[in-house]
Amino acid sequence: MHPNPASFLPFAIGLAQLAGQITQRSFRQSSLSRTAKSSSWDFVTEVDRASEAAIVAAIQAAYPDHHIVGEEGGGQGAPAEEAVLHWIIDPIDGTSNYAQGIPYYSISIALVDPQHNPLLGVVYAPALGELYAAALGSGATCNGQPIHVSAVESLRQAILITGFAYDRQTNPDHNGPQVNAFLPQVRDLRRFGSAALDLCYVAAGRADGFWERAINPWDVLAGALIVREANGRVTDYEGRQAPLPGPDGRILASNGLIHQAMQDTLHASYGG
Ligand code: IPD
Ligand code: CA
Ligand code: CA
Repeated sequence: MHPNPASFLPFAIGLAQLAGQITQRSFRQSSLSRTAKSSSWDFVTEVDRASEAAIVAAIQAAYPDHHIVGEEGGGQGAPAEEAVLHWIIDPIDGTSNYAQGIPYYSISIALVDPQHNPLLGVVYAPALGELYAAALGSGATCNGQPIHVSAVESLRQAILITGFAYDRQTNPDHNGPQVNAFLPQVRDLRRFGSAALDLCYVAAGRADGFWERAINPWDVLAGALIVREANGRVTDYEGRQAPLPGPDGRILASNGLIHQAMQDTLHASYGG
């Protein structure tokens, strides 16, 4: 039996705030050092690493029997097969924005069971002063106030958010056809640059839907719970719900009301 997920919320919020202090200290500083990952566009800064190290150290000190997966450091803490609770962390989601001095970036922290079912999620955007949180069965909040998805019922009225993966130059599945398919049908599209925060915007009703491919668990586990707890829906492009993004990392989130229409458009864009 797990303890009540909500009982971990104050700790998880403290982790996000600790990381936010670290990231904000270096925000818009010109001396950031970058290390390339999969391509020259996909890089990590010293601040991504410092943010993750602080979060991991705090979890290890408080819960040495928990497993931790960080985007930058991989598996840490207790072995995955022994731990009943796992933390999945993106220490900066939106590194490109962060390094450009654009305030739309976040710290994403999820607590999941060994099958990756989310128990709680915290997404903190320190430069925007917004902290989103949800615990399973307890609803979703922004800065402590309850949030809900929008009531928009058709694509014609919808603002959708998407994103483009780092492999878009080499992978023919680069989201271009999907953008072309949605563009004539919707009120407008946005590409903000932090998938975790994009999901929170859907949860808060600021946008009506979000889709992206090649998403990793640390990008979306916290945000997906926040959307569901705000009464929204999160699936793959075919409408299947699973704890982790599939091998192609395709995720579709919406207010629920436009989900089928988004699924149909995505299906058609792949020649369906
Ligand atoms: C990226 C952001 C971006 C999304 C990319 C992600 P990172 O995460 O979430 O919005 O389009 O697919 O990889 O690299 O900044 O942690
Ligand atoms: Ca990310
Ligand atoms: Ca990241």
